This record gives sequence, structure tokens and C-alpha cells, in this order.
Amino acid sequence: VHVNPTALTTASADTYRHCPIYNNTAKHSSNSWTFNKTLSHLIRKNILRFLDPERDISILKGTLKPGDIIHYVFDRHSTTNISENLYRLLPTVSPMKNQHYRRCAIVGNSGILLNSSCGPEIDSHDFVIRCNLAPVEEYFQDVGWRTNLVTMNPSVVQRAFQDLVTNEWKERFLRRLRSLSGSVLWIPAFMAKGGEERVEWALRLILLHTVDIRTAFPSLRLLHAVRGYWLTNNVHIKRPTTGLLMYTMATRFCEEIHLYGFWPFSLDPQGKPVKYHYYDTLKYEYTSSSSPHTMPLEFRTLSTLHRQGALRLHTGVCG
Ligand code: CTP
Repeated sequence: VHVNPTALTTASADTYRHCPIYNNTAKHSSNSWTFNKTLSHLIRKNILRFLDPERDISILKGTLKPGDIIHYVFDRHSTTNISENLYRLLPTVSPMKNQHYRRCAIVGNSGILLNSSCGPEIDSHDFVIRCNLAPVEEYFQDVGWRTNLVTMNPSVVQRAFQDLVTNEWKERFLRRLRSLSGSVLWIPAFMAKGGEERVEWALRLILLHTVDIRTAFPSLRLLHAVRGYWLTNNVHIKRPTTGLLMYTMATRFCEEIHLYGFWPFSLDPQGKPVKYHYYDTLKYEYTSSSSPHTMPLEFRTLSTLHRQGALRLHTGVCG
């Protein structure tokens, strides 16, 4: 059963990259949206044919032991070993076991959030998911504070915390981790080679300072399963972004899903420039054809689901 194959038909990512016409039609008005419970349930049911997010959100302790060899999901010829630290931090049961929420927010990292005043609205959700340890403190009015689950690609340690080269960067990183007390830290450690040391540094700090967070390491099948689900809906995604992974998984735990900070375009609907990330100086070249992601295509798909009432995309000002 397909969600709506015709409506989700693919388009080249380039079609939408800087497309003001598309942007103009993509305003997500605050008063014309109604939740489509039936469609949302159908989507959950269909996703469950490909993956069980409760299980695939993390590898569990019983399934591995220190020293085991893992092939990276995207770099099949490269391997890594399960370290003692990683083993210690594997959960024994799914961190999302039996968890169900009425309203969830997934916060993407687009600069569209700046001056949105969406912080309080985001924080009012029952479960808040954030991506790549994006900072909140300095931006709380626009992005909120609340974090129940946050992702951390290994590259974040380098990009946002300078590979912890000095004690000051280590301190900063540790402060960020400590601020997440009680939440889930989701680390895709086995996706692509190159992040092994960074993951290890992070885990060492967590253990050394007994940071109160629940670590999770996605299953090796998650990426392919998510891609498979979208493919059957005619959405050909090279490598799903963190945001799309989170949406796909959240359908299992959340009734109503609200997305903020999803806007992979350099102009807003009024034609004003939008930063790629709300918190750093990364540029849009990042979404070029050399990027592994097809964000504008993902956005178009999410937009269709918004129009159908399966999820709600917030791209304007709140309040
Ligand atoms: N996002 C978006 N528009 C942007 C930036 C981000 O829609 N201008 C969404 C994407 O779904 C993205 C998520 O917000 O996955 C989090 O942003 P980011 O940290 O940049 O995630 P990724 O690009 O997936 O991470 P990476 O580059 O490390 O793969």
C-alpha cells in the first residue's frame, strides 16, 4: 500500500534548490492545516513493514561484544571494532520501548528558525527531537530548550567542537552533553568511516564524567530500511538526512508530528536570505550535487505530506 504515489513523485533536487516560485507556493499557513489521523496511521503501518523504529533506533548490548567487527553501512569495505566504551554505553533495552506521545516536534537546523519566536511553541510538545547537537542556549527564543532526543553525527565533534583540541573545547562539549540530562543521545557511529575516534572521545567523556544521558546507536539496517520505505513511495533518496530519518522513526512513537527548521533553500518565501544552519556559517554549497543528501527533494515530499495532513511543517513565524 502506498501513501500516495502520484503526489510523492520524485523531482530532481536541482529543480528546487533555489527556486523562489516553489518557495512562494510552499508557505505553510498556520490556520489551514488539519491533522489526518487516518493517513498518519497508514504511514506508520507502512513504515513498520520496513523497519521497527523501536528496535532499529539502537543496537542492544546482548547482540554484540567488545572487539566485534562492524562493516560501515556506506563504506562496506571498511570496518571498525566495538570498543569497550561503546559496549558499555549500548542500551540493554530500546530507549524508546513502549513510548508513545501525542505531539512531537522535530527541529531541523535551517536558519529559517531565526527570528521565528518558535521556542515556546516547540517546547510545548510532548517529545522534542533535535539534530546534531545544535546549540539552543543562545537561540532559545526561536528554537526552544526542551530536548528529549538529540542526534550526533561524529562529524559534529569536529565541526562544532574543534575535535576537542583544547581543554576549553572539551569543557564546552561536556557542558553541552551535561545540558542534555535524561535525554537520548543518538549516535550514528557505523554509517560512514572516518568518525571512529570522534565517537570514542565523546563516549570516553560521557563515561569519565558519568554524564546522565541515554546513548543509542542505530541499527545497521536502519538506513537501507528507511530508504526502502521511501523508494516504494517513489521518493528516490540517495542518503536520507538526519531530519528525514527522525521523521520516519517518529511515526512509530508520535501521533501528531510537527517539523520546525526544515528549509533547505537560500531564500525565504519573501525572497530574504536564509542561513543554511541557524547557528553557524556553513554555506548552501553544502547541499550541492557533491553532497550525499537530496534535501530539497525530501522537503518537497514533506510538503506533500503536510498538505495531506500527515505531518505539519512550520516554516513561518510562531505565536
Ligand atoms: N535541514 C533543512 N534545511 C536546512 C538545514 C537542515 O531542512 N537548511 C534539516 C535536514 O533534514 C537535516 C536536519 O535539518 O537533516 C538537521 O540539519 P543538519 O545538522 O545539517 O543535518 P544533516 O545535513 O543530515 O547532517 P550531516 O550534514 O552531518 O549529514
